[in-house]
Amino acid sequence: MSFLKTLLAGRPNGLRARLFKGEPGGSAPASSSAPSRKPEAAPPVAAEKAMGLLKEAPKNVTPPDGYEVVLHKDALPEGQIIEVIIGGTSIAVANVGGHHCAITNTCPHAGGPLGEGKLDGNVVTCPYHGWKYDVTNGACLTDTAVKVRTYKVQIVGDAVCVEL
Ligand code: FES
Repeated sequence: MSFLKTLLAGRPNGLRARLFKGEPGGSAPASSSAPSRKPEAAPPVAAEKAMGLLKEAPKNVTPPDGYEVVLHKDALPEGQIIEVIIGGTSIAVANVGGHHCAITNTCPHAGGPLGEGKLDGNVVTCPYHGWKYDVTNGACLTDTAVKVRTYKVQIVGDAVCVEL
C-alpha cells in the first residue's frame, strides 16, 4: 500500500510532492492561497505621540451647555491644528500661542480639510490649493468675500470644549 502511495504521490520531499504543494522547485502555478505580500506598514504612531495627539480627552469634565469636550488641553501643542469630528460635525481646532480656536474643517473653495493644513501663527493654509484663513475669526485672506464658520471654545479643567 505504501509503495502504491509513493508511486502516485511521490516521495514526501520529491518533485511531485512539491508540485502538489506549489513549493519552489515545482512548476505548478501559484495557488490563490499562496502567502501574499505584507500589507503597507501602519502610519507611524511615534510622530503623533511626540506631538501629544494621542492624549485622550478627559471624561470627567462636564462641558458648559451647548459645548462638547473635543480634546485634552495638552493634546494639541502650540502651532498645531487638528481635525476633530464631534457630533457628526468636522471642525479644525488650532492652538495659537496657547489659545485654542476652532473653525469649520471644510474649505469653502473645494472642500479641503483645513485641519490637515499648515498653521503659521494664526493663519492656516488649506492643503489642497493654498487658500489661507485666519483661525481666530474665520476670515479668508485669499478671497475676502469668503469666511469660514468659527466655533466658541472654552477650556474646562483639562478639556478643550467647543460650542456646536
Ligand atoms: S480646497 Fe481649500 S484651497 Fe482649494
